[in-house]
Amino acid sequence: MCGIVGIITNEKRNLLPEIISSLKNLEYRGYDSTGIAILDDGQLKRVRRIGAPSDVFPPKEITEELRVSEEGFLIAIGHNRWATHGKPSKENAHPHFDCGGNIAVVHNGTILNHEDLRKELITLGHTFLSTTDTEVIPHMIEQKIKEGLSIKDAFLDTASSLEGSFGLAIISTDDPNRLLLVKHGSPLLFGVLKNTLIAASSTNAILAYTNTFISLSDGEYADLSVEEGSVSYKIGTILDREEFIKKEATIITDRSLEDMSKGDYESFMKKEIHEQPSVFRTTLLGRFNEETGDAVLGGLIDYEDVLRNAKQILTVACGTAHNASMVGGALIEALAGVPVRNEIASEFRYKKIPLNTADTVLFAISQSGETADTLESVKEAKRKGFKTFGIVNVVGSAIAEEVDAGVYARAGFEIGVASTKAFTAQLAVFYLLAIKLARERGMTAQKGRGLLLELEEIPSLMSTTIENTEDVVRELALRYAKQNIRTINFLGRGIHVPIGIEAALKFKELTYLEAGSYPLGELKHGPIAVIDKDALSVVIMPHDELFALNKNLLEQILSKNGSVIVATDEVGAKNLSEQDVDIIIIPTLKNTLLYPLIEILPLQLFAYYYAIALGNNVDKPRNLAKSVTVE
Ligand code: M6R
Repeated sequence: MCGIVGIITNEKRNLLPEIISSLKNLEYRGYDSTGIAILDDGQLKRVRRIGAPSDVFPPKEITEELRVSEEGFLIAIGHNRWATHGKPSKENAHPHFDCGGNIAVVHNGTILNHEDLRKELITLGHTFLSTTDTEVIPHMIEQKIKEGLSIKDAFLDTASSLEGSFGLAIISTDDPNRLLLVKHGSPLLFGVLKNTLIAASSTNAILAYTNTFISLSDGEYADLSVEEGSVSYKIGTILDREEFIKKEATIITDRSLEDMSKGDYESFMKKEIHEQPSVFRTTLLGRFNEETGDAVLGGLIDYEDVLRNAKQILTVACGTAHNASMVGGALIEALAGVPVRNEIASEFRYKKIPLNTADTVLFAISQSGETADTLESVKEAKRKGFKTFGIVNVVGSAIAEEVDAGVYARAGFEIGVASTKAFTAQLAVFYLLAIKLARERGMTAQKGRGLLLELEEIPSLMSTTIENTEDVVRELALRYAKQNIRTINFLGRGIHVPIGIEAALKFKELTYLEAGSYPLGELKHGPIAVIDKDALSVVIMPHDELFALNKNLLEQILSKNGSVIVATDEVGAKNLSEQDVDIIIIPTLKNTLLYPLIEILPLQLFAYYYAIALGNNVDKPRNLAKSVTVE
C-alpha cells in the first residue's frame, strides 16, 4: 500500500529530483502523505507533507527547504503513506526518527505488536511523536545501539522482534554510507546501476533508471553501502547474517517507461479501458493451436496430469480479480464440466473447507501479485497440500513466485487504481484455461477450434463496442449524475451476474456512491422494495433464451417508476424499442458465453464518465490503494 524508495550512490549529487520522481511513479499505488530523509553533511534532514509528491514536492523548493549542500549527498530515502495507523498528518508521515534524530526509517506494511513494543519503549524513556505502528522501529534500533549493538545488528534484531508485515529501509548518521533493507511479507527490491543502487517497494519506482533488479525474499536483508568510492551490496537472512546469499538479478521485459505515460488520453483509466482490445490480443498470443483446437498454456506444462485429473477447482482472489474468477468459474463449469468454487481470499484463509487436496487444485488470481490476502491464501493452501496455480499480471511478483506454476495475464502496466484491462486479460486466461480443461475431458478438436476462432474475433468486437457505446454511455452517465439517483444496482443472470458485480465495484470505487448487484431473478425476493423514481437499475441482458423472462422483470421495475438502462445486443434492443428504458447496444454474439468480454466495457465507461461528472479523480479514487499489501 505504502511506497518506499531509497537511493545510495558513490557520485555525490542532489538526489532529491531522483527520489521525488521515484515517489511520483509510486503515487498510483495510493498515498495520503509523503516524506523524504537525506543524509547530507553528516546530518539527517527530513521533509514531510500531506498530499501527493507530484503536488507537494517541487524539487527546487524542497532542495531549498532542506538546505542541500552544494556538492550534494550520497544517500536518501522516501515514502508515500497510505494511512493505516493514525490519520494522514505531517507527524504520522514517514520517515520516522528515533529520539536522537540519528536514525530514519520508512516502512511498508503493518506491525501487529506495535502497542506492546511502544509501551516497553516508553518505560525505557523513549518519546513518541506519531500514532503510527512504524515509529516503534527507529526507537527500538536506537535502544539496541545504546545497548552496544552495531546499526546492522540493531536493525536486524529489531526486525526479528516485529510481528506483521514489513518492507523497511533505514539510514543513520552513525553509518552514513549505508542503506539497510529488510523484508518480511511486503515487497522490497533494489535496482542495480553501475554507480547507484535504488531500493523500492515496486519496480515502477526504478524503471526510469534501470530494468535490472534484485528482489528480496521474506526474512532477507540487504546491506547497500558505499565503500572506497564504489557501491556494493550484500544479501543475507535475519537469522544467518554473515552467510551471504548470491541472488540472480531479474530484467524487466514486460513493461517500459511509455506504459507509465497517459499518452494522448486525459487519464490512465481511460487509456487502460481503450487498451483492452490490444491487451486481449497479447494475452492470447501464442497460447493456442488452431489446428488441434487446443489452448497451450506453457506455464502449466509441468502439471498437465494434475490438471487432467482435477475433480474440482478452487479460486482465491480479491475484488476485481475475484469477479474475474467468478466468470472463469462459470466458463469452466459450462465448457469442461469441472465444478469450481470461488472463494474471496480474505475469507478463504480463515475458513475450514472440507475439500480433498488430492484432486482439487487452487488458482490464485491477482493483478499485482502482491495482495496480502491472496498471497497468504496461497501459502495456507500449500500448507494444506493443495497444488497452487496463479493467474497473475505482474511478472516476478510475490504470488507469481509463491505458486507452483501459473499463467501471466500480460495486461501490461496498470496504473489506474480501478482495475480494467487486467480484468479482461484475466478473463482471456480463463477462456483459454476452460478450453484446455474441456479438451482434456472430451471436447472435440472441432469444438475447441471453433471456440478459439471466436476468441480471436474478440479484440475487434471489443473495439467496435467501445467505439459504438462510448458517446451514448457518456451522455447517460452525465444525465444520471445530475439526477440525484439514490440507489443504483447492476443486474443480470448466469454468466452476466459477475459482470454486474464488477460493474457495481467499478461504480463504487469511482463515484463514491453506494451501488449494489444481484441476480435479476432475486428482484422479487426483496430488492424490489428499494425501487422508486430515484432508483436506477442497469440490466445486462443480451438476447438469449431467458430474454422474455428478463423483460418481464424489467417491466416490474418500470411499474414501480424505477429508471432502467439495459445493456443488450442488436436483437435485444429491437425487442425493447417500445419500452421506456435507455439502451446501450453491444454487438450480437453467437456464443453467449463470450458476452462478458464485451459487456463489461460500456459499464467501465459508465462508472468512468459518472465519476468525471462528479468531479472525482478517476485514476486515484479516494481511500484506495492499487496494491493491498496489508490485511
Ligand atoms: O492486485 P489484485 O488483483 O490482487 O487486487 C485485488 C483487489 O484489491 C483489486 O482488484 C481491487 O478490487 C481493485 N481496486 C478493483 O478495481
